Amino acid sequence: MATAEQIKSLIHSHFSEQPERFYTLALQVAAYEAKQGHAALAHDIREIIDIEKKKSTPCIIPFSQDLNGLVLTEASKVYMSSLVIPDALKERIQLVVHEYRQQEKLRSHGLSHRRKLLLIGPPGTGKTMTARVLSRELNLPLNTIQVDRLVTKFMGETSAKLRQIFDFMHQMHGIYLFDEFDAIGGERSMDNDVGEMRRVLNAFLQFIEQDTSGSIIIAATNNPKLLDHALFRRFDDVLYYEPPEKKERKQLIANVLGVFKDSKFIWKAVLSDSEGLSHSEIDLACRDAIKSTILSDISKVSATLLRKTIKNRLEVRKGLRG
Ligand SMILES: Nc1ncnc2c1ncn2[C@@H]1O[C@H](COP(=O)(O)OP(=O)(O)O)[C@@H](O)[C@H]1O
Ligand SMILES: [Mg+2]
Repeated sequence: MATAEQIKSLIHSHFSEQPERFYTLALQVAAYEAKQGHAALAHDIREIIDIEKKKSTPCIIPFSQDLNGLVLTEASKVYMSSLVIPDALKERIQLVVHEYRQQEKLRSHGLSHRRKLLLIGPPGTGKTMTARVLSRELNLPLNTIQVDRLVTKFMGETSAKLRQIFDFMHQMHGIYLFDEFDAIGGERSMDNDVGEMRRVLNAFLQFIEQDTSGSIIIAATNNPKLLDHALFRRFDDVLYYEPPEKKERKQLIANVLGVFKDSKFIWKAVLSDSEGLSHSEIDLACRDAIKSTILSDISKVSATLLRKTIKNRLEVRKGLRG
């Protein structure tokens, strides 16, 4: 039989509506039973979990009318394996997953899992994608808060809206992504609209600090210079994203082209041409190349074709700068 602690934890996780924890605990029971020599029971438990897990989607509670249009909720299907980032960064993300799954154990020692994250890096390098990956890994709904809209549309009420969002985190466990976070994160001493912005930022700092919801809170920004330094220490971890190095460009291109990649693909020029492009731009160049092969009835993407679509992306970038 499972231990008394295991049974209590199972019941607790059921009533606190944390399905991912419930699954983890049930798997621990299966492992425990297997160790006791009860192989058939362990097998049955694992089978039940597998079947139920396939059926389940994260529990999504609709937002109040007030927050409609400011928060978008989705259930993500993005896999960790498709996120191409340096190993050290991936390990930090895996630690978030690991600590979330083991939160009970941490709590019994008076510690909480890491769940307040600041993601910094240029556009198209995987910040939003990371939030999606965490959503899938932890089977939690992803709620994206449109910070720029929150601030501009309801200037006077921004703090009140923020409070509503933080209150909501207790009702629906999930990933809460404050995207384009600089809209509220701006330097407090900056001179435009200071009064209002300072109040909003202070409110945000307080909400983050006081939050005990257990939800994962992610703030993402392209522009760390705008961020007040006081913000950094409110987060459990700060993750930096960079445009892909050569090794990552190769992995990304191989991933996205998949079966469309020519078996005689020559990497050298492709890898040097793509230097400085973001993951997102490379991803788009690969998709452009795949589309072009499909439409011209060629079966594979050659390095020459990909170089062409990469060149187009570089032109787009130049145009944006100019
Ligand atoms: N590190 C990455 N690995 C794989 N694909 C990526 C990565 N970063 C971006 N992409 C691709 O570009 C798209 C946009 O990236 P996103 O995560 O939204 O960038 P941002 O950092 O601006 O939030 C993603 O949906 C994905 O297709
Ligand atoms: Mg983004």
